[in-house]
Parts: sequence; structure tokens; C-alpha cells
Amino acid sequence: MSEWWDDAVVYQVYLRSFADATADGVGDLPGLRSRLDYLAGLGVDALWLNPCYASPQRDHGYDISDYFAIDPAYGTVDDLADVVNDAHARGMRVVMDMVANHCSDRHEWFQAAVAGRPGSPERARFLFRDGRGPGGVLPPNNWQSVFGGPAWTRVMAADGSAGQWYLHSFDPGQPDFDWRNPEVVDYFERVLKFWFDLGIDGFRVDVAHGLIKDAALPDWPGADEGKGDHNYAMWDQPEVHGIYRGWRSIGEGYAPERKYFVGEIWVPSVERLTRYLVDDELHQAFSFDLLVQPWNAERFRGAIERTLAQSAQTGTPAAWTLNNHDVHRSVTRYGQRQDLVDPSPSDMIAAARRIGEVSLQLGTLRARTAVLLLLALPGTVYLYQGEELGLPEVFDLPDDARQDPIWLRSNGAELGRDGCRVPLPWSHDAPSFGFSPPGTALAPWLPQPSSFGKLAVDMQLDDPNSMLALYQRAIAMRGALFQASVGLRWHETGQHELLAFSRGDGTCVVNFGDRPLSLPQGWDLELMQASGADSDQAQVPANSAAWFAGVPADHGAKPGETIEADRRLLETATVYRSQSVREQ
Ligand code: GLC
Repeated sequence: MSEWWDDAVVYQVYLRSFADATADGVGDLPGLRSRLDYLAGLGVDALWLNPCYASPQRDHGYDISDYFAIDPAYGTVDDLADVVNDAHARGMRVVMDMVANHCSDRHEWFQAAVAGRPGSPERARFLFRDGRGPGGVLPPNNWQSVFGGPAWTRVMAADGSAGQWYLHSFDPGQPDFDWRNPEVVDYFERVLKFWFDLGIDGFRVDVAHGLIKDAALPDWPGADEGKGDHNYAMWDQPEVHGIYRGWRSIGEGYAPERKYFVGEIWVPSVERLTRYLVDDELHQAFSFDLLVQPWNAERFRGAIERTLAQSAQTGTPAAWTLNNHDVHRSVTRYGQRQDLVDPSPSDMIAAARRIGEVSLQLGTLRARTAVLLLLALPGTVYLYQGEELGLPEVFDLPDDARQDPIWLRSNGAELGRDGCRVPLPWSHDAPSFGFSPPGTALAPWLPQPSSFGKLAVDMQLDDPNSMLALYQRAIAMRGALFQASVGLRWHETGQHELLAFSRGDGTCVVNFGDRPLSLPQGWDLELMQASGADSDQAQVPANSAAWFAGVPADHGAKPGETIEADRRLLETATVYRSQSVREQ
């Protein structure tokens, strides 16, 4: 059965930085609502909202203090209902973020746990343990948090003496739940129903592989090697699957509506990933393989092939992305040095980062190219707000403006993720570039660089050569040229910097090199659109991509057909799916 997300273009809204309607320098739901026509005009099928629940904002919403409330800075539950209704009226779905590994230390349960005694039911909702060593001065084990530093923090006992320790995979302000406690399971079932009842169409599941820890909380032999990302006692434990079976059955209860779950899942193999994507758990997992690759034809092709093979093996459409709220923006990355080091498979933030001088001109050219490639691929495409404007990573934020816990916990050694979260520019000549309403006294929560002016929405809307116009055209044309669910076949172009593949009625050609490259002899295709200025029927300029109608005859298959290898992969996927349906 085809699903609405199978080939959807989903736009990630980092609400805090999208649009401010309430004149406080912070984006909000009424601001988003007022800009829904812009998103409908861009042509996206769905929105994913980063967490907008009540939160002290230690990790900008990934630290939730009340799962049943919207943060007052963003609006109210009614404001969200308005956004959902208005988005639905424009044909766009709305997906929220579900952060269930941890809450905020301000959550009432955690406050009660800190006030409670060791061994009390209040503490049993979290992972409180006695310390080691004389007087329990050492943490219960040697685990490191993902944000750096120990994964344990000690609380005070009622009499003011030092007490137990609690586990936090991320910041100390984000205590991990104990998901083996049925109270936690029940609580989140209520949370899901609350938002589904409001009309939310699905959830992106934050650190989906993290909810259960090895019950023995064993020391990690690799602790000296760095942060906790690779410590598999913290991640991917077998009992996590029971949680998603429960969530999925809640979603299915809304049939015929199709509630959707996409996971942020970091596991060491496709086999492990597949366990999350069986028919009664999550529908899809993000693929970050392409995102972390340097600008190089072979690397890109390798990541695409791996992701498609993974998609065939898991029987779920690929969920592609080149940008999100955690990584340096693609315009900047592609304008830096492209070292061919092997990206770390699980530390996306570090793996995506590039070093050296930035050429924004080159980076922009390549980012235009990359998005044409992305939108030609089979599966779901996730875009991150601002990439359609070609916004660069902002490196020169003042130290005192930076808010990311990665920056704070590393004492400034790591810049963190603020640079991709700077508020959007809407009007080139308005204060705060139109992010806040006219007359707003407060500056945007992160300062915008002056270079954002020329990238403002109003500058790009009527310019056919703008990044925004390219995104609009490509999203509009995507489905007609590259039909949904049709597999991809590569063409050998004879030039290693020139990648070419066909899908359905279209062919996408990408030149990763620094000089123009000619299409192979005999390709008689019609140019439909290009990322660079000088593409024509015969050649693709340096660092550019072009979409053509038609399919080269080099493999003898008819347009719309998949080649044998693809078909075999797809058949495997189908067999896999029907088996798991039978097992239910
Ligand atoms: C995910 C989010 C990231 C957040 C972390 C902790 O990785 O993408 O922004 O800081 O989870 O919730």
C-alpha cells in the first residue's frame, strides 16, 4: 500500500527561528501560521516541527517539562490546533517531535524524584543509582554523555548531604527516563493520544534507539575514546522494540488516517536497523549517510547505493536529508575543503563538519546541485528551513549569544549548533529582516548577519535564478519526471566526476568536477531544468546538476521500467514485508 510519506517532501520547521508574530524575538506558532502560504507555495507535503512543548529550553525544546503543553514562548495548544487545521487545509501534514528518552529536570516527575527518597516510586521513573567509592563520590559507572562530560549528575539528599546520581545521556538538564517502568510507558501512550487527537499526523522519534539501557549499567571499556555515542550499553537494547510496537498500535487505532513514525536511529548495521522498521514498529528511519559525505562523485554514489540497498532490505522508503538543526549548513560545508576521510558512522555532527576557508559562491553552486540530486531520488526528502534560501552557517556569533549545550559543556571548545539555527530573513529592508513584526523592541534570539538581507525571501521570490525559485521548480516538477516508488538505475558516463541516473521518465546528471563535462554520445534528452546557468542538451557545467526528460538507451530498458538488479532488491523487500504481515 502506498503511504502519504513514501515520496513526500517534508519541511523541517525550527519554530524558534522561523517567524515571530508576538514581538519577542522568538519564533512561534502564530508566526508559522502566518507563513503557511509560503510553505504551500514552496510545494512541500508536510511539516516537521522541532519540539515546541513546554520547556526551560536548555536544549531548545529537547528538554520537555510538560508534554501536554506548548511552551508559552511559542503559543498555546489552540495555536497548534490552528496551525494543524490551516496546514491541512493547504494539503500539508504536520509531524511533531517526540522526545521520550529524557525530559527536562523541571518536569514535575523529576522534581518529585529529586525530592523523593532513594528507592521511592518517584525515583523509579528515572535511573537513579548510588555512587561508587567511599561515600558514593564516584558516578555509578563510567558512561560519558553525548554532549561531553559524565553521563551522571549527583543530587542532594533531603538532609543536604550528597545523595544518589541520575543518568542523563545528554545534558544534566535532560534526565533519562527508566523505560522499564510501566508508568513511563503509560504516560507516553497518553502523550501520543493527546497530540494525535488534536490532528497531528505523526512523530519524528528523537534518539529512538536510546530509550532502554543495558539493565546492568556496565562500565564502558571504550570510555577513554570519547563521548557516549558508541557505548552500546546505552543504546539499541532489545526491549526498545516493545515500546514502538505499543506506539504503532496507537497510531493504527486512528485508521483510516495513517499516523506516521520516523526514527532518528543510530545503530551499527542494517540488520539492527531493520528491527525498528518491521511492520508493527516505526515506518521509516532517517538516512544521514549522504549528509556526511564530502563533495565527491564516488562518495555520493556510494552513500546513495548504500541507502537504497538499506531501503530495499528494510522494506521502507529512504528518508533523505542534507541539512537539519544539528549540522553545519550545506552551503557552507560544500564551500570548504572536501577531505576524503571516512565519516564516523554515528557522530553526524562531527562527520558533517568541514574545515578551512569557506567559498560561499562555490558552496551555493554545489548546494543547488545537491538539492536537484536529492529531489530526483526515490523516497522521502527532508528539507531544513533556510536551505531553500541558501543560508550559510553563521560562524561569527558572539560568544555570549551562543546557547547550545554543546558549546556550553565544552567551554567553547566546540562551536555547537547555534550557527544553523539563526532566525530566517523574510524581508531584506525590514528590521530583523522581517523575522519579528515591525516595531519589535527585542532583537532576534540569535543575531542575524547582515549578509542575510540579500538572501531574504522577498529578494528571492521573484528572481527565477534564486535558490528559492530552484527549490520551487524542482519540487513542482519532481513527481512528473521521477515517478514515485520507481527504482533508480545508474548510467556509466565514462567520466568519474559525472554521475547519471534515470528514474521513471527522467534522468538526473550531476557534475562533481571543476570543469564542464559532456553527456555521453547519443544521449538525446530534453533539458528540463538545471542548477547552474549554462547547462544545455550536451553538457553540464562544473559543480552543476541537470534534469532531463527521457532516458538514455544505454541499457535497453524502457522508460519507467526498473533494471533487473533494482527489481530483485524490491522483490526482496516485498517478500520481507508480506512475511512480517503474516507473522502479526
Ligand atoms: C537529537 C536532536 C538534538 C538533541 C538531542 C537530544 O539528536 O536532533 O537536537 O539535542 O537529540 O534530545
